[in-house]
Amino acid sequence: MRILVTGGTGYIGSHTAVELLNAGHEVVIFDNLSNSDIEVVDKIKKITGKSLVFYYADMLDKPALDKIFDQEPIDCVIHFAGLKAVGESVKNPYLYYHNNIVGTLNLIEAMQTHGVTNMIFSSSATVYGTPKSVPIDETFEKGQCVNPYGWTKSMIEQILTDIQRANAWNVVLLRYFNPIGAHPSGLIGEKPNGVPNNLMPYITQVAIGERKELGVFGNDYDTPDGTGIRDYIHVVDLANAHVCALKKIGDRSGLSVYNIGTGKGYSVLEVIRNFEKVNGIPIPYSIRPRREGDLASYYANADKAKRELGWQPKYGIEDMVRDSWNFQQMQGRSVSSEQDS
Ligand SMILES: NC(=O)c1ccc[n+]([C@@H]2O[C@H](COP(=O)([O-])OP(=O)(O)OC[C@H]3O[C@@H](n4cnc5c(N)ncnc54)[C@H](O)[C@@H]3O)[C@@H](O)[C@H]2O)c1
Repeated sequence: MRILVTGGTGYIGSHTAVELLNAGHEVVIFDNLSNSDIEVVDKIKKITGKSLVFYYADMLDKPALDKIFDQEPIDCVIHFAGLKAVGESVKNPYLYYHNNIVGTLNLIEAMQTHGVTNMIFSSSATVYGTPKSVPIDETFEKGQCVNPYGWTKSMIEQILTDIQRANAWNVVLLRYFNPIGAHPSGLIGEKPNGVPNNLMPYITQVAIGERKELGVFGNDYDTPDGTGIRDYIHVVDLANAHVCALKKIGDRSGLSVYNIGTGKGYSVLEVIRNFEKVNGIPIPYSIRPRREGDLASYYANADKAKRELGWQPKYGIEDMVRDSWNFQQMQGRSVSSEQDS
């Protein structure tokens, strides 16, 4: 298939482009490079030995989107483009609603105009809000999101659900748990702007000496070691879930929703210990107060994706911490970063 990957130079989009090319698909990327680098295009080509088409375009620019669809015969859109920093979304909700929602509406309109009716969307486990129990499966009701970023994901899910129903689209909503790791080549990975929001980039920045210590938010949760438990998934496994989800698009199955996680949770301290053991580097940390909105334990029941998509995660926590560190070492220290602790 010929796949349009929006946000395809970003963290998950770039890994998905690699897996799509490896699986024999053709890839067209557009990205406004607001949170990624143009060099990623060459790195994807280097990893795969295959070519792809790149457009520098913003999804807020409707004529630019129309131009891409005029030029490219697209079978399916995999929609990653969006802003994703939770804290920033709390400070500047308008930016998030405007970019993520208006951008997606523009994309939908361009797709309608050009008769493209297949989409796989990057959603998030955050749409479950505070779940009644764990593991979380797809039959759980969506909940109250705790920040504007989460609401953009929940609202886009609703928009796509309604569009699918009204216009006979094929839509797959993939609800990611916690992607970490990097491509084993070390060429592509997660490069957060500023102070990382997430655990793994923070750990690797401490490991490389860019930050003094890791803050662990709360050690009095109702978990075996008191720290929060999350479902970490290797980004290459996550990328492959998109390739598997194309099967649903091919089957013209209407609307499908899948959790994409490993189904196994690790605590913050377990992740730190695994990183230290596998990479031989101590990670200094200090316990800080709980963060508002953080839950004790959050992990997936991912059986539906395994059953219906034939998708199976291949990488374990050791691979995740090794590949994250490999990527950070290939990047080196960022000159512009500030010590925040
Ligand atoms: N990383 C996670 O933990 C996680 C978890 C759940 C869901 N998601 C979702 O997955 C998707 C990809 O996440 P990621 O971690 O790869 O993020 P990322 O920031 O690395 O990638 C997003 C890409 O979208 C581009 N982009 C943003 N706004 C754009 C616009 N208006 N027009 C064109 N391009 C635009 C950015 O430049 C970037 O390259 C996002 O939608 C995110 O919300 C991510």
